Amino acid sequence: MLFGPNGAGKSTLLMAIMGFPKYRITEGQILFNGKDITHSSVDERAREGIGIAFQKPPSIKGVTLKKIIDILKEQSNSELDIERYIDFLQMRDFLNRDINYKFSGGEIKRAELLQLLVQKPTLSLIDEPESGVDVDNIKVVGEAIRKILDKDKHIWERNSSGLIITHTGAILDFVKADFGHLIINGTLKCTANPNDIFEYIKQNGYKECEKCPRNLLKK
Ligand SMILES: Nc1ncnc2c1ncn2[C@@H]1O[C@H](COP(=O)(O)OP(=O)(O)OP(=O)(O)O)[C@@H](O)[C@H]1O
Ligand SMILES: [Mg+2]
Repeated sequence: MLFGPNGAGKSTLLMAIMGFPKYRITEGQILFNGKDITHSSVDERAREGIGIAFQKPPSIKGVTLKKIIDILKEQSNSELDIERYIDFLQMRDFLNRDINYKFSGGEIKRAELLQLLVQKPTLSLIDEPESGVDVDNIKVVGEAIRKILDKDKHIWERNSSGLIITHTGAILDFVKADFGHLIINGTLKCTANPNDIFEYIKQNGYKECEKCPRNLLKK
């Protein structure tokens, strides 16, 4: 789980891990499954098993959601029953619409998660899945993320990991995260139990976190 105030660099981190060319890595390396992917293209990273659900995905006129799902299905070795998830995420009526074009906030999030469910990456980067989602649909979004991360399987049968950005923490009620990370001003400030971090932020705000002596970089 990744926390941080607006403009901290959370989405930037996800975009850099996914390898979008607008983001230039100036130092450090990205290792994925022991392989250096720092200079790999987005499609190479996707083939290696990294997937992303955007905070604000583009809408593409002329490309339907169904077309994207069909392409992902061809590449995926997902054993999930896709048809069941189309219904579960209430996306059937959207399949033949241009992707994200005039979709509502909640519909965009559900469409993003449907694509991840079909792609079934080893590492899912999920940017604010609950923003703009109503209370009924947060449960649906939470359930979809549990499936994407194999949370209902025994720990030794899981083959998926994820990095999820949240502001509201609502997703914590559905998805138990192993670690919480806090970014402030583009710097990793804290790693701790996600519920503890979230409780602290709720009580004290991010400003207090900035004063915290437990700065990872000082170690
Ligand atoms: N193309 C760009 N040119 C200039 N500044 C940019 C550009 N893209 C992002 N930034 C800036 O980088 C900072 C980090 O942005 P980022 O989107 O990663 O924040 P965030 O932590 O995801 O915030 P939020 O919680 O609001 O989504 C912001 O101050 C943003 O304005
Ligand atoms: Mg963001």
